[in-house]
Amino acid sequence: MTVYTSLVRPALFALDAERAHELTIAALGRPWAVNALRWLPRAPTDGRLAQQVFGLSFDNPVGLAAGLDKQGTAAPAWAALGFGFVEIGTVTPRPQPGNPRPRLFRLPDDRAIINRFGFNSVGASGVAANLAAALPIAPRIGINLGRNRQTPNEQAADDYVRTVEVLHPYADFFVVNVSSPNTSGLRDLQEGRALRALVEQVVTRAREITTRKTIPVLVKVSPDMTSADLLGSVDAALEGGAAGIIATNTTVSRSGLRAPAHVAGETGGLSGAPLKAMATGACRTLFAHVGRRAPIVGVGGIFTADDAYERMRAGASLVQLYTGLIYEGPGVVARIVRGLGERLARDGVSSISEVIGADV
Ligand SMILES: Cc1cc2nc3c(=O)[nH]c(=O)nc-3n(C[C@H](O)[C@H](O)[C@H](O)COP(=O)(O)O)c2cc1C
Repeated sequence: MTVYTSLVRPALFALDAERAHELTIAALGRPWAVNALRWLPRAPTDGRLAQQVFGLSFDNPVGLAAGLDKQGTAAPAWAALGFGFVEIGTVTPRPQPGNPRPRLFRLPDDRAIINRFGFNSVGASGVAANLAAALPIAPRIGINLGRNRQTPNEQAADDYVRTVEVLHPYADFFVVNVSSPNTSGLRDLQEGRALRALVEQVVTRAREITTRKTIPVLVKVSPDMTSADLLGSVDAALEGGAAGIIATNTTVSRSGLRAPAHVAGETGGLSGAPLKAMATGACRTLFAHVGRRAPIVGVGGIFTADDAYERMRAGASLVQLYTGLIYEGPGVVARIVRGLGERLARDGVSSISEVIGADV
């Protein structure tokens, strides 16, 4: 039991899910909240958790997954929580409202969430303004790119490239999101030839536009592909110049849920504990195929240090969480970071990079 799980979470869960989300993000965007978060127990800096991944240095491997701070309004708060990196977005080039509400549902008995936001975005310029107001931002920042709902897949690359052009000054890395289930047809961009062409265009533009730094481009994949399709997508992404893979986005599967049918049956992507086995399996499959050629960011159902350690042993160089933060609260980041250090000590390992893929 923590103050969050005994007091804060019940109060937030008494509210409509999206309202609770809006209030939390609005609070986290305020300086007083950032100062208050600094009082939370922090994990001590631990050199064994520091790594170079896709040519970037990370102080610790625990990141915030895309979707929680879509508009980049709470960036300083994520640093205060102790995240090693943060993914902002999904950002679409032009503003769009996303799907009608309700579009966010909690499944407490499953420690899960279903969402069908559909890329509600203030657009690339709006996010640029938000990030400019938040500088300097301590941890590494990734920008997750999506296409506008009205843009056909044939012209999707123009959308992704447009956002790169606007947001490159703020990005340590970009993520090509082709795996959200909530934008009709988006997942078709995971098909080999389409994905290779898309990634090539994003990588080329990211290289052209900045002489100051190389911005790695990652691709975020769905957990709902067969292993053969997953590997086909990833090979295509790497041929197109991707520097790494984020595995995975939310699932459209609903197997084994405890939630009542009217909630479990909501359309959208499922995240949290029920996704864990699928996302871990995807990491193993990917690591067995690509090894250390392309780093994997493991995401899906991570709530504890054991979950994070297991995911890294399954091949992930870095991990991310979203649903775990909603259920466990802000202290979870320090608990996972500290717990990873404790597991290294237990196993007599001197650097986290030594355990990556150890179980594969
Ligand atoms: C409410 C919600 C919104 C999300 N929005 C996005 C998004 O905009 N872009 C994206 O790539 N992933 C999005 N995701 C997926 C997460 O980044 C992550 O891949 C997924 O939730 C699995 O991690 P988790 O089990 O730790 O939540 C969203 C997830 C949730 C729960």
